[in-house]
Amino acid sequence: MSMPKLVVTAVVAVALFAPAFAQPGNPAAMREKLMEQNGKDAKMGGQMLKGEVPFDAAKAQAIFASMHDVAGKFGNYFPAGSGGGNSEAAPAVWEKPAEFKAALAKFEKDTAAAMAAKVTTKEAFGQQFGAVTANCKSCHEVFRIKK
Ligand code: HEC
Repeated sequence: MSMPKLVVTAVVAVALFAPAFAQPGNPAAMREKLMEQNGKDAKMGGQMLKGEVPFDAAKAQAIFASMHDVAGKFGNYFPAGSGGGNSEAAPAVWEKPAEFKAALAKFEKDTAAAMAAKVTTKEAFGQQFGAVTANCKSCHEVFRIKK
């Protein structure tokens, strides 16, 4: 009659370990994935502005929405000690947390403004895209070390 007891033990063990699996196991990989999405969206925007891809208002909106989504999530993946190694996150992220937070908040605000503008022309898109992508450069200058 030891079977039921074994089963119970196994269930308890799974329940105990489940929260560990639910957490992002590799925060550096998570933030890289988010930034890669940013890179793809920025590339698509650049191609539309250069005329390599026809301007499409729905695509323009999707680019800003995707970047806004990244802006809201990115800050969740910087636990202490997750820098170094292959990560391109500069020590400044942890040394100047308030400034990093402010840079992210600005990116979030500018992407929200770009979405609210509901651009319908390439010219209007270019203006919003310029304001949004200025954030990439200013944040990377301080908080990213290119490897
Ligand atoms: C508030 C700060 C911030 C903003 C804004 C920001 N980035 Fe980044 N970005 C980072 C940091 C920090 C890293 C390094 C992440 C790591 O390797 O841990 C990074 C890394 C990247 C990478 C490399 C990802 C990889 O594969 O390692 C790309 C591409 C990138 N950013 C593109 C962009 C683009 C495009 C924008 C603007 C649309 C942007 N970023 C806006 C902070 C920012």
